[in-house]
Parts: sequence; structure tokens; C-alpha cells
Amino acid sequence: MLISRGGTCARALLLLSTRMAASSISSNLIAPASASRRIHGSKPFSAQLLSYPPFLSRASLFSSHASVHSNKVHKKSNSRVAALLEIGGVKIAKDDVVRESDPTNNVPDNIFSKIGLQLHRRDNHPIGILKNAIYEYFDTSYSSMFVKFDDLCPIVSVQQNFDEVLVPADHVSRSYNDTYYVDAGTVLRCHTSAHQAELLRAGHSHFLVTGDVYRRDSIDSTHYPVFHQMEGVRVFSPNEWEVSSTDATSYAATNLKKCLEGLARHLFGAVEMRWVDTYFPFTNPSFELEIYFQEKWMEVLGCGVTEQEILNRNGRKDSVAWAFGLGLERLAMVLFDIPDIRLFWSTDQRLTSQFSAGKLGVKFKPFSKFPPCYKDISFWISDSFTENNLCEVVRGIAGDLVEEVKLIDNFTNKKGMTSHCYRIAFRSMERSLTDEEINQLQWSIRETVQTKLHVTLR
Ligand code: PHE
Repeated sequence: MLISRGGTCARALLLLSTRMAASSISSNLIAPASASRRIHGSKPFSAQLLSYPPFLSRASLFSSHASVHSNKVHKKSNSRVAALLEIGGVKIAKDDVVRESDPTNNVPDNIFSKIGLQLHRRDNHPIGILKNAIYEYFDTSYSSMFVKFDDLCPIVSVQQNFDEVLVPADHVSRSYNDTYYVDAGTVLRCHTSAHQAELLRAGHSHFLVTGDVYRRDSIDSTHYPVFHQMEGVRVFSPNEWEVSSTDATSYAATNLKKCLEGLARHLFGAVEMRWVDTYFPFTNPSFELEIYFQEKWMEVLGCGVTEQEILNRNGRKDSVAWAFGLGLERLAMVLFDIPDIRLFWSTDQRLTSQFSAGKLGVKFKPFSKFPPCYKDISFWISDSFTENNLCEVVRGIAGDLVEEVKLIDNFTNKKGMTSHCYRIAFRSMERSLTDEEINQLQWSIRETVQTKLHVTLR
């Protein structure tokens, strides 16, 4: 699911590539508190590196030692009892992240419930199996030179997610329609590139960052508002390219392409590949790698030579670097034959028992197919209506029972009023749904759409 030039996947990957314009959101940054923490499988972080998300004060973090585990219940000072998650040493209470009455917050409950699940850290899960297969490629090709991070907190500042990777102030990915904001200066990261600058500042020259990323989006079998990415960065010093006959940028670009072609072969075998020029704010030149798989060209990842400005700002003025980012679900769906992205979140034994550590590419056998049920909803839209907002409401009510939300009719009448008709496909991956259950969901969706989205049902 990488950024693309257009077509279906472009939406999700959202183009940190070419989507420009729309609203800009002012960043309201609070200086990070200092502390040093350990992150899974890595050296202690410097104070600067593990900056707390701005909305978390020191006081709300409780103690820093590791005696507190995910979901352990703590008493807060006002005697309210709040469930706490701990990710990468940062403790997070639900009401730090979900605040319905706060207009600068748009994180719903169902998104909060995904924070901390970290599918990429489960060795028997397709996402974890794929992560480990990529690690294996880097460890063997580069004698374990790449430092790996997979437990960095997904709650980051606007500065980390956008400013530090040079995403323009008016880029559409910054809008509330596309990104989950915890407050005006804090987001759920929408890409693992959010960690590039801090890791460069901390002195790392070869690193991989794997993590859950969050994007508001439309609903279908390949898009889910939480998915997983892996970022890779390699920095070169002048003596590395000076001995070659090329300039620094070409040297890095050639090295990058060789590295990623090797990775694609490691995962997919002897496939045909092609490079396509593209745009990202943080790389120049920028490329996408496509492979010819199951009779079509498939985007595998986005990458490029790191913008010099990022290196200059983070203490690497004389260096050149490359970076890549890949969407793990997209690759895992193909490698394991997983037909619907919701299946990654299923805890059904019939599914989970099919995957085991180290077994990349075992083909998923559907345990049964349940019929979909379709319901249509039509309304006159208002100026502020967006499809992402509709999908958010539908997902909030029907959860993973919704398979797709698709615009099937759209017209404007003589008075200039625009009507949309959406078809909602309900289907469980695990069981048959009853008519009654679906009717109830549909009624609740109709009611909420009307009140929350200010549309007029037809
Ligand atoms: N961050 C980009 C995305 O989410 C991917 C990317 C990473 C592209 C690094 C280039 C370099 O789509």
C-alpha cells in the first residue's frame, strides 16, 4: 500500500506524494519532557530521541520502570481508574487519546482499541512473519548493520510526523479528514517516516523502523484505518561515494535500488521488476518499485534519496542517505493469499492456527465463506460532508462487520443539492450474520449519519 500516482491504492497510502492543498493545521508544540528509556532490542534512547507526545505530561506518565505492563489498571490521582497501555516505555491512558468533546481530537474508540496490539511483534502472525523475513534479508546482506526499532510509540507530534520530513504546511495529509489528531499538535503517526529525523539525530546511520500507522480512509477489502509499515534508512559518508566515479546522489540511488531489488527477490523469488519515478516530500529523486506478480504490476514500496535538508538539520550535513517505506499488509495479502485486510485482526483460531514463525508464504485456506449482505443509504450532502467521515461513522457502529462502503449514485438537482447513495456491504469473516443484527446496525448508522454528518436522509 504505498503511495502511488493514482488508482485504488493511492488513497490509502495517501499520498504523502502528490496530494496537495486543503486545510492546514497549525502546530502547537509543547517541548518534550526528558527521560531516557529502553526500547525493545535496542540501545537506550537519548532524551531527545524518546520525546513524549506533547499531550502527555510527566505527571501522567507514572514511573518509568518496567514493572507496569500493558492494560494494567492504575489509580489516577483523582481516584478515577484508567486503563494504561505501555508502548516503548510511554504509558497511555484512554482519555489521553480519545476525547469526544474536544474539537481538536478525532480519535474514535475503535481506533484507540488498536493501539498497543502491535501485530508486527507477533512471530506467528503474518505481519510479524513478514517483518522477520525482511529482517533476515537485512541481517544477512549487511551483517546485522541495521539497528531495528519496532516499539516506538505511535503517538507523535505534528512536528515529527510532518514538519521534520518536510511535508508542506498545506499538504492534504495534514488535514483532519486524513489524519487522526490527539490534539492540534499531536497525531497518531500516519507513516513510519515520522521517526526518521529523531533517529538520525540520535546518531543512527542504518536503521529499520516497523510500526502500526493510522489513516482515516474509505472502506474496502484492502484498506483499514490501522496498518503496518517498515521504514529503512541508510546514511553514507563522503569516503563511501568519493572512491566511486559517481556523484553522491547517484551513488545512493544505485545502492538503494540494488538493496530493494534484492529484498523483493528474497520475498517473491525471481520476479520481474520495474522502477517508476514518483514524488515524496522527503526524498529526491523518489521512486516506486513494482513487481509483476500474479499477472499484474503491483506497487511494493516507495523510496528515494533523502532530501539533503533533512540530513542538514539533523547533524549529517556532509552525508547522503536513502530511505524506503513499505506497507506490510499489502505484501502479506499477496504472499499469504489473504483476501481481506480485516483478517489480520481476527483472533479466530481457524485463522491464527494457519500461520507460524518463520513460514513465509504459507497460503491461507479460507475456513468458509459467509454471504455478504448489502444495504443502501441515500442522503443530500452538506458542504462539510466527506466520504472518510461517513466511513468513520460506519466503522464506529459496525466495526469489522463492514466490508465495503461504495458510492453507487451521485447527482445534483436543479436547486444545486447533491445526493449520494452508498452501498454498505456487511460480512463477517467468522460467522453468518442475522437479518435482525444487520437491520439494527443499518438503523443506527442512518441515525448517526444524520446527526453527526449533518446530511438529510432521503
Ligand atoms: N512515508 C511514505 C508513505 O507512507 C513511504 C516512504 C518512506 C517513501 C521513505 C519514501 C521514503 O507512503
